Amino acid sequence: MAIERTLSIIKPDATARNITGKIIDKLESAGLRVVAQKRTKWSTADAEAFYAVHKERPFFNDLVAFMTSGPIVLQVLEGEGAVLKNRDVMGATNPADAADGTIRKDFAENIERNSVHGSDSAENAAAEIAMCFKDDELVG
Ligand code: CMP
Repeated sequence: MAIERTLSIIKPDATARNITGKIIDKLESAGLRVVAQKRTKWSTADAEAFYAVHKERPFFNDLVAFMTSGPIVLQVLEGEGAVLKNRDVMGATNPADAADGTIRKDFAENIERNSVHGSDSAENAAAEIAMCFKDDELVG
């Protein structure tokens, strides 16, 4: 499988509980390498732009409010099949459905406060990475 890059976000529920290191440990232990990383806080416009694909969903406003409620960690992960690997390590969107040992099973609070985001395809990964980082911020 090819070496890929994917966007990962550690969400406000996880930064609030001071567990970013535990989450990064699971990602690195799975063979993913952090090639860009920054802790930041999104504006409403940032969150609305990032989640624009979900604009019509009933949970959109809550999602934007949650994602702007505290610090987040944006990171680009690199590795073999990184998009799928990251999603495997994250587990299902709803922690009630997540497999044992996954980030969401171990740390997520509910379907909204689910600790991490990961790109769902190589195409979306490229778009999300471009939204969050400049080319020269990626250091492989
Ligand atoms: P994420 O992978 O960041 O993509 C969209 C987010 O919307 C998702 O994780 C959840 O945190 C949030 N969300 C809230 N409610 C729902 C829902 N009913 N279905 C899917 N995603 C939801």
